[in-house]
Amino acid sequence: MAGTSIHLLLPPLFFQHFSDTSFIAEDDAGLGAFLIGFHSHAQPEVAYIHFVGVRPDLRGLGLARTLYEAFFAEARAAGCRRVDAITGVPNRRSQAFHAALGFEASGDTDIDGVRAWHDYDGPGEHRVAFSKAI
Ligand SMILES: CC(C)(COP(=O)(O)OP(=O)(O)OC[C@H]1O[C@@H](n2cnc3c(N)ncnc32)[C@H](O)[C@@H]1OP(=O)(O)O)[C@@H](O)C(=O)NCCC(=O)NCCS
Repeated sequence: MAGTSIHLLLPPLFFQHFSDTSFIAEDDAGLGAFLIGFHSHAQPEVAYIHFVGVRPDLRGLGLARTLYEAFFAEARAAGCRRVDAITGVPNRRSQAFHAALGFEASGDTDIDGVRAWHDYDGPGEHRVAFSKAI
């Protein structure tokens, strides 16, 4: 995912169809952070966070944690009991963030010292999967 164009990760459908389970934070300079998430149609007990992003000058201040906690509360109130997310193998920052929030990581292969699912998103597109009970 690191290295994947943001436009490919975030086509308009996410903003059109998942706005009721997504969150943003703004300040005087505009958009500070956002979280795109939704509830699984196939697995009603599962909610999924597709992407979180914090403006570089606002990182390390707890903003992503605040957005995740808002998402957890909304998902729990809707009956979800687990939150899933994935990230790329090179994205150590995202891996540290999810670990700090209590997510458990899973994978089937060791890639560059990271446990990840081999070819998860297609050939060569390995991903670390995260889950957390809420
Ligand atoms: C990953 C990202 C969302 C974290 O946002 P943030 O607002 O800086 O994170 P927070 O300040 O809420 O941090 C929450 C916890 O994660 C930890 N954490 C966050 N970034 C970290 C890093 N780079 N290294 C180690 N730990 C980190 C913090 O220490 C904190 O732990 P604590 O609450 O126990 O002190 C942000 O760096 C980002 O936007 N990265 C680029 C986009 C991306 O990679 N998104 C994830 C892929 S879906």
